[in-house]
Amino acid sequence: MAVSDRFEAAAICTPGLEPFVETELRALGIKPKPGHTGVVEFKASARQLYAANVWLRTASRVLVRIATFRATDFAHLQQRAEEVDWSSWITDDVAPEFRVSSRKSRLYHTQGIADRLHKVVGPASIGEAGQPFVVRFDRDLCSVSIDASGTPLNHRAWRTDIGVAPLRPTMAAAVLMAAGYDGTEPLVDPFCGCGTIPIEAALLAAKLPPGGTRRFAFQQWPSFQRGTWASVQGEVKAAAQAGVVAQIEAYDRDQAAVDACKANAERAQVSDSVLIERKVVSHLGGHTGKGLIVSNPPYGKRVGDGDLRALYKKFGAVMRQRRPQWGLAMVVADVKLARVADHRLAPVGGFGHGGMTVSVLSRPGSEPSEPSAPLSDPDLQAR
Ligand SMILES: C[S@@+](CC[C@H](N)C(=O)[O-])C[C@H]1O[C@@H](n2cnc3c(N)ncnc32)[C@H](O)[C@@H]1O
Repeated sequence: MAVSDRFEAAAICTPGLEPFVETELRALGIKPKPGHTGVVEFKASARQLYAANVWLRTASRVLVRIATFRATDFAHLQQRAEEVDWSSWITDDVAPEFRVSSRKSRLYHTQGIADRLHKVVGPASIGEAGQPFVVRFDRDLCSVSIDASGTPLNHRAWRTDIGVAPLRPTMAAAVLMAAGYDGTEPLVDPFCGCGTIPIEAALLAAKLPPGGTRRFAFQQWPSFQRGTWASVQGEVKAAAQAGVVAQIEAYDRDQAAVDACKANAERAQVSDSVLIERKVVSHLGGHTGKGLIVSNPPYGKRVGDGDLRALYKKFGAVMRQRRPQWGLAMVVADVKLARVADHRLAPVGGFGHGGMTVSVLSRPGSEPSEPSAPLSDPDLQAR
C-alpha cells in the first residue's frame, strides 16, 4: 500500500480487551472492525491515526498494514519485498527492525526472513531505537505492517515504581471503563498498590492523554503531516481540564506501596487529585453520597495475616456499611472469591495477566433507600 490519507490500521491489545478498545475507537469517531484475538482493525485518516495513538488507554500499539504478498522461498520473498515502496515509510537515517512470526508456512526461519528484509530495506540499528515492522507469515501469505506507536502505548512514563503485583495500566483503564467512570464522581481504590487504577482515573478525569507528551514512531515517517499533528496536539490542550481536581482516594496497608503510589502520582502530575494514605481496608471512612469503588484486591493463596476469604468478606461488609450507595468494579483472579465480597458482582470481561486469567466484575451503585447490613464484630477487626 502506498501512503494515502486512509490507513489500514489495527490496534493491538491484550486478548480480552478488544471490546474496550472498540469503545475507545468509537469515541474517537473511528469505526472498528472485529479482527483476530488481540486485534481490532480500523481504517483511519492521518488525523485519526495520530489521535488513536494519543488517546487509546486500553491498546498496546497501533500498526498500519503496508504490504501483503505470497512468498514460498527466500528468493521470492526478496523479489516481493523489493516491490514494496519502503521509501514512503522509512527514511535512510532510520534503521528498520523486523519482528517476524510464521505459522503453517514454507518460510518459517524467522531470523532468515528478517535478514532478507534487512538486505532490501537497510541494516538493523546498533543502539538507538529504529522503526519497528511486524511481519507475519500465515500459510505462505506475508503481511507487513509498520508500527505507528514505537514505544508501546501501555508504557506509562510515570510508572517507574511498580511494587510487587502491579496491574497493567491498560487493564486499569479497562476496569475503570467497566465501572462507567467518567471522571466526575468520587472514586476509591482501597488496595491501590503502586496506584495504577487511581492514577489512570485521575488522568482520565483531567482528560489528559495516557502517555503524556511522549513521541510516536509515526512522527519520523516521511509522510508525517506536521499540520495535522499540530491540530491533534491543539485538541489535547483544549481537552485538558485545567484546575479540575478529581475526588480520588487511594489506600494500601503497605507503606512501600503508598510511597510508590505517591511518587507515581507526582510524576503523572495528578497528586492534587489523589488522596494517598496508608490504611487497612477496615479503616475506610464513610461517605453518604454516590461514588465508585474500583480495585484489584490481593490474590493468591494467602495474604499477610489472614486468608483471602476473610479479607474479601471484610471488604464487602465495609463497603456496604461505609459506602452504601457506591458502585463497585474489581479485577480478580477468582470470581467466587470476589462474590464473597459482593454476590451482585457480574462478569463484564476477562483477560490473561501474569500467566493466569483474570476477570473484570462490576455492579452499579445502590439507591439511598436500599438498607445496608451493619458491620458485625468480627468484621470490625482491623485487616
Ligand atoms: C494486587 S495488589 C494491587 C496492585 C495495584 N492494582 C497496582 O497496580 O499496583 C493488592 C494490594 O492490596 C494491599 N493489601 C493487602 N491487604 C490489605 C488490607 N487489608 N488493606 C489494605 N490494603 C491491603 C497489598 O499491600 C497490595 O498492595
